[in-house]
Amino acid sequence: MTELDKRQDRSPVPQGWTYAPAPESTDVVRLQDRYGLYIGGEWLAAKEHFTTISPRDEAPLAEVAQASEADVHKAVAVARDAFQSWSKLPGSERAKYMFRIARILAERSREFAVLESLNGGKPIKESRDVDLPLAAAHFFYYAGWADKLEYAFPNRTPKALGVAGQIIPWNFPLLMLSWKIAPALAAGNTVVLKPAETTPLTALLFCDVLRQAELPPGVVNIVTGDGSTGAALVDADVDKIAFTGSTEVGKAIQRRLAGTGKKLTLELGGKAANIVFDDCAIDQAVEGIVNGIYFNQGHVCCAGSRLLVQESIYEPVVEKLKQRMATLRVGDPLDKNTDVGAINSREQLERIEELVAAGKEEGAEIYQPPCKLPEKGYWFAPTVFTNVAQSYRIAQEEIFGPVLSVLTFRTPDEAVEKANNTPYGLSAGVWTEKGSRILWMAQHLRAGVVWANTFNRFDPTSPFGGYKESGFGREGGLHGMEPYLDFE
Ligand code: NAI
Ligand code: MG
Repeated sequence: MTELDKRQDRSPVPQGWTYAPAPESTDVVRLQDRYGLYIGGEWLAAKEHFTTISPRDEAPLAEVAQASEADVHKAVAVARDAFQSWSKLPGSERAKYMFRIARILAERSREFAVLESLNGGKPIKESRDVDLPLAAAHFFYYAGWADKLEYAFPNRTPKALGVAGQIIPWNFPLLMLSWKIAPALAAGNTVVLKPAETTPLTALLFCDVLRQAELPPGVVNIVTGDGSTGAALVDADVDKIAFTGSTEVGKAIQRRLAGTGKKLTLELGGKAANIVFDDCAIDQAVEGIVNGIYFNQGHVCCAGSRLLVQESIYEPVVEKLKQRMATLRVGDPLDKNTDVGAINSREQLERIEELVAAGKEEGAEIYQPPCKLPEKGYWFAPTVFTNVAQSYRIAQEEIFGPVLSVLTFRTPDEAVEKANNTPYGLSAGVWTEKGSRILWMAQHLRAGVVWANTFNRFDPTSPFGGYKESGFGREGGLHGMEPYLDFE
């Protein structure tokens, strides 16, 4: 009998608690039936549209424009026009608009949070407490650099590039928009941004924030559409492309831009190791493991999707993890108690199901806590695989869902060897009480971000980005300004 079994009756895990529904009202959100393209501060009609739905029940929310190549070229031409005056404004003037945007986002945060959860499926708890505060903080932070560029880059004469084309994914729609737009504007560029096809609505609502902030027309343009719209933006007359998304598309964009002189930053996938040493505080580590992989349904490029546990504590860690998983509340993203919301799209659900089937096939042992999934919409129960070999697809490929693969190690060297045994290099986590070990691990892990005794923590002041197939370039912090500047 394990220590945990003995204490079962005194275990802090509540058995059989149920929560009354605590739905967030959607009244605060007012959607249009149909959206056009936001170009030059106006809504232009598009020829084609597609329906955007809510993944929680597949209910249609609105019709969204499918921008054509000509629409994209128009947006870029308008942005280039606007660049003339925007780039000549004193930095303190640009900052003024950006501070306004930050403040309006904070003021309208409930409206944005509800819409984000409705369109993308993430728990309202997360969009309210993570996405929205961070989105506003990014504008606030980069506004602060706008008038300090010559101090930030002494003796280097920073100059704006021109028009930035930005392509973002669906896992943090408004936050990725902020990561992209804020540094671009602070540096004096103008922007054409394409949201992901499954989550365009907060970007379209953001256009109303731009109107309120009285941002000069053409400085930010939003063109919705699918991958073909993204591809048209890559080929358009832009000076830089910033992309966050799959490694596959990232590679295609890099090939496309080779030799064109356009600048490029890529923030791609990951397969992060979350490494737990036997001297760590196990309960905190279990919280970090859960947050690392089940946060945002695991639709997180830096998710801690490979758990590396030191052999001596394998059993208690896995047991506590399973107990904790059984308390996760899976369901309506708009319910304030929900921990794990809806999978973003049918396509993504199918990808997760395929990889989970491969894991079973290859011989890993699966555990899913009993949970009742809603009938409509896209859902996947929190999942953990044990008995995983490094060669299995679930240990190699990005699943981008609530699925954790557990491996073990004996020594710090072995932990590093296994953690680095991946084509990716975006993030990693280390759980240990020993400060010297944290530093040693951070030095040896090939990952852009290494968290110690925490996971999935973000701050606008801190650079974020990867090695190897996770991409190149950094977003956040002063590092995040550089890709938007030329230096004489
Ligand atoms: P994706 O890379 O196809 O989509 C990301 C963005 O790129 C979207 O706005 C999309 O419209 C656009 N896009 C697609 N094809 C394009 C092209 N040829 N040229 C320019 N833009 C293009 O990612 P998808 O298909 O949504 O997800 C597939 C997998 O990618 C996921 O399962 C996940 O593993 C990974 N992914 C990683 C993300 C990250 O944060 N690093 C975000 C989203 C997906
Ligand atoms: Mg794709």
